[in-house]
This record gives sequence, structure tokens and C-alpha cells, in this order.
Amino acid sequence: MSRKIIIAGNWKMHKTNSEALQLANQIRIKTTDITRTGMIICPPFTALAPVYEVIKDTNIGLGAQNMYWEKEGAFTGEISPGMVKSTGASYVIIGHSERRQYFGETDDTVNKKIKTALENGLKPIVCVGESLHEREENITDRVVKLQVELGLVGLSADQMKKVIIAYEPIWAIGTGKTASPEQAQEVHLLIRNILSKMFGSGVAEEITLQYGGSVKPGNAESLLSQNDIDGALVGGACLKADSFSDIIHIAEGLTKA
Ligand code: 13P
Repeated sequence: MSRKIIIAGNWKMHKTNSEALQLANQIRIKTTDITRTGMIICPPFTALAPVYEVIKDTNIGLGAQNMYWEKEGAFTGEISPGMVKSTGASYVIIGHSERRQYFGETDDTVNKKIKTALENGLKPIVCVGESLHEREENITDRVVKLQVELGLVGLSADQMKKVIIAYEPIWAIGTGKTASPEQAQEVHLLIRNILSKMFGSGVAEEITLQYGGSVKPGNAESLLSQNDIDGALVGGACLKADSFSDIIHIAEGLTKA
């Protein structure tokens, strides 16, 4: 396999600054041998700048977990793309299902955020995925198609090359239930085909499609071996340096020449 795998860790609302520094340091030490696999860590906003100091001379990229779409203004409690960028971050997770579920994010706000992230030189990691109810109703394809089409509407093919898409079935997040590699592959292929229609097959082939939802060292290899799974967005297992680095090493092993 010659394609590049990208493993990202979404720390969610975990880690004070001292804990974040410790985890980032451990991850740095455990991944010095990694040369082929992309690595991104997404600590909470408060830890972005200090964590950047720990990883700035490594191959590990830094990402935020959210941002607002306005440049500046009276938006108490919000963080602008420029502020995220100024911490040293180059990625931003947009439209995570927890933000859609608890903080009222819609495909429209996701679209606005993706556009302003790109305008500010941040690479979005855009999350899509169906709920358990939607899967049971057999409307997974329709739900994911709408999220992709509405979330990415108006982007140019060139902009799209900078976007990572993470397929995260909501029923598999934090539940210990992983989509089977075949279930995940099926939706990844669907996403790739939608992207091909929207932006052309060349762009669709290039785009990194990550899977997220209870990814662990024990299931990473079977998931990452699927044709259209180019990486993972890891939650729980990224909070320990050992399990995160194990997943990264599994990815590295899969791309050996
Ligand atoms: P878990 O790996 O804990 O299921 O979380 C996945 C996720 O939501 C990553 O963004």
C-alpha cells in the first residue's frame, strides 16, 4: 500500500494544561521513529499553544476541536480561525457529532466554518455520520450524502484538497461498538463517490477519509486495511500515549514499502 495514512487524536474535553503537556511529551517520545504516517493531536483550546511548543519540531500536527466562523467581534466565548492559527495549530475539527448534538451545529454552520477555516490557512477535519436510529431505518446513505453535500457546498476543487473527512457513525463513538471494517468501507466508498461527483475523481482519490468510532489498537489494522479508509480519528484511545502510539505504529506498518 503506498497511500499515506493519517491518524488524528481528538482529546475532547480532557486534560488540564499540565496533563496535556505530559501526554504530548509522551506521544512525541513514542513516535520519533514514525516517518510515513501523518499524526495530528487535537487538545482543548486552552492547551493548544503550550502543546505546540512540545511538538513544533516533530512530524506531529496540531489541531483545534472547533472554531467560530467570524474573524472577530462581540461573540463572547467563541474562538476565531485566526486565534486558532496563532497557537501554531494547522488543523481544526469541524462538525463533530457531539457539537451537532449538544451545541446546535448544522450543515450550514459546518459549511461556514469550513470556508473560513480554509480562508485562514487551517485544514478542516470534517465529521459526518449517522445515528443508530438512522442506521436502523436504513437511511445511512441518505444522511451521510446530505451531510457531505451540504457541508461542502461552494468549495473549489483546490480547497477540497486541503480537507480531511472523518466518517464517525454516532452509535460507534465512545460505546466500544466499532463499525465492522466492511460497514465502514461501504460508507467510505459512498463518500468517495459523492466527492468524485462534486469535485472530480482526481480530487476524490487524493482526499484522506478517516474512520472514527471506538478505534483501538486491537481493531486498527482491520479498519485501516480497507481500500477507502485512509486514517482514523481516535477519541478514547488517544488519551493514553501507549494506545495512541500503538495505533500509529500499526498504520506505519501497513504502509511499509
Ligand atoms: P471514541 O474513539 O472514543 O469512540 O471517539 C471517537 C471520536 O468521536 C473521535 O472524534
